[in-house]
Amino acid sequence: MSKVLVTSALPYANGRVHLGHLAGAYLPADIYVRWRRLKGDDVVFVCGSDEHGVPITLSALKQNTTPQAVVDEYHISNGAAFAAADIRFDIWSRTSSPEHHALAQHFFKKLLSKGFIDKRTTQQYYSEQSKLFLPDRYVEGICPRCGKDGARGDQCDSCGETYDVTELKEPRCALPGDRSTPVLKNTDHWFLKLDAFQSRLEAYVAEHAETGAEPWRLGTLRGAQGWLKQGLRARCITRDTEWGVKIPLAEADAAGKRLYVWFDAPIGYVTFTQQLFARRGDPEGWRAYWQDPACTIYNFIGKDNIPFHTVIWPAMELGYNDEPDPGERPYNLAAQVVANEFLNFGGEKGSKSKGNAVEIGEFVNLFGADPLRYYLTSIAPEENDSNFTWTDFAQRYNGELADVLGNFAHRTLTFTHKYFDGRVPEGRLPGEAEERLRAAADHACKASAESLDRLRFKHALAVAIDLAREGNRYFDERAPWKQRKDDLEACGTTLRICLETAAALGLLLRPFLPESSAKLLSCFGLDRNAAHAPGTAARNARELVLPGQTLGKPEVLFKKVEPDQLPAP
Ligand code: 2FM
Ligand code: ZN
Repeated sequence: MSKVLVTSALPYANGRVHLGHLAGAYLPADIYVRWRRLKGDDVVFVCGSDEHGVPITLSALKQNTTPQAVVDEYHISNGAAFAAADIRFDIWSRTSSPEHHALAQHFFKKLLSKGFIDKRTTQQYYSEQSKLFLPDRYVEGICPRCGKDGARGDQCDSCGETYDVTELKEPRCALPGDRSTPVLKNTDHWFLKLDAFQSRLEAYVAEHAETGAEPWRLGTLRGAQGWLKQGLRARCITRDTEWGVKIPLAEADAAGKRLYVWFDAPIGYVTFTQQLFARRGDPEGWRAYWQDPACTIYNFIGKDNIPFHTVIWPAMELGYNDEPDPGERPYNLAAQVVANEFLNFGGEKGSKSKGNAVEIGEFVNLFGADPLRYYLTSIAPEENDSNFTWTDFAQRYNGELADVLGNFAHRTLTFTHKYFDGRVPEGRLPGEAEERLRAAADHACKASAESLDRLRFKHALAVAIDLAREGNRYFDERAPWKQRKDDLEACGTTLRICLETAAALGLLLRPFLPESSAKLLSCFGLDRNAAHAPGTAARNARELVLPGQTLGKPEVLFKKVEPDQLPAP
């Protein structure tokens, strides 16, 4: 039994999570967790709200409320949205919790005492009108590269170039109700000396190149290598704001400042594991996941989070681990950083301001969790961006889940109930066609297990649908409705092999479609919590389908979606 820690990126508690988030960092993680548990591994799955950052203070400003009220609202609604999609974290916590503040401060002090953090004077834009230092994205002006007006502080949407905010021409504030001209002011900040970790991080990333034991996806690798190639520079890890984790220093100028959200957020993975084990009455239990190299850590993220998980957070861990104090154990670095590309809506990235993304609750209320999980996995943005549309959903749902999978399981089970009294028929010795279908099931189980182990979820799911297609083809060829009249024993053979295939499908779909697979497997008497060994699902399926065994009554697993049920595009 291996120990595994799985994390999903902590979503900002500043807006509702939508299908784009789900497809990126949550659904694949949940599928992977279920898969490892089915294999009998000891898995911990942590997540929670990322509740700091200047944008949250600006949302509060816009809504005329407090940052605390903003995060309270979204922490609850996002937790409920994940639960509705059957994403089962072991803990759904939040970075505003006192334990998290304490741990983030502890990390800061450790890195400071080891010389990896220092204080520097910087120049930053300040709004006299709002009495606020402005984060880069709240300054706009004329792009220093292409001359276009309306360019953001650190990047131009028009030409895509990045630059230093001080290079922007004719800068102005981009705050709600404040378009004044900002002034440059000196302000002291603390910097993480990333450059000190350049070679260690290069070695870490190289370990996960294509040839390594746990190779990262190409997108993750390229993102990490791109940063390393530019040469790492010290990075500011504090902000002028009143919202966030306090800088744990008595210095007067630390007072109006807080830790940068990206400094404290990844530490949340640790805090939440600690909180989970504290709740379980085993306060030291977290160490077996974070400080024992036998545990493997998987971070599931969206591609925009790659540098933070492959460079900055590992640098913080390496710094912490450097020359450990007596009694201190080093932290494990992630073995896998599983980054997905984006799921777009109508060809564009889902965004709160555009309101183009579909919310999780909206989808689940209409069609349920499994159809959502099916569709998002079948178009998973594993290698490239993909696109959500309601019509594509309906086509895949009807054409694959309802017509292929649901139909095969249902016709097999109802036929057995109708003509064989709901018992697995003995039939004759399997012939060539039967052995072919059995071999297809064996192959599907092996291929699916391999794909899941390699984090290729889309492929693992497609394998199951292909097997259901084979099953339908065999059913049609054998035509048991005719066989029944001519040769009841031959008909029994057909049904028995189809039942085996249906049970194999139930097992194959467990990580993806928890409810539907549990319903299907319950017909074969399998409890929803029973484990099954990897790569042997087909054998297990045969063990679930013994001649004479009574079968449960099937339900229609996937009712067809009618066009008028779909929301207007
Ligand atoms: O991009 C985001 O939504 C961030 N809040 C992700 C944080 S992940 C982690 F490191 F905490
Ligand atoms: Zn430009």
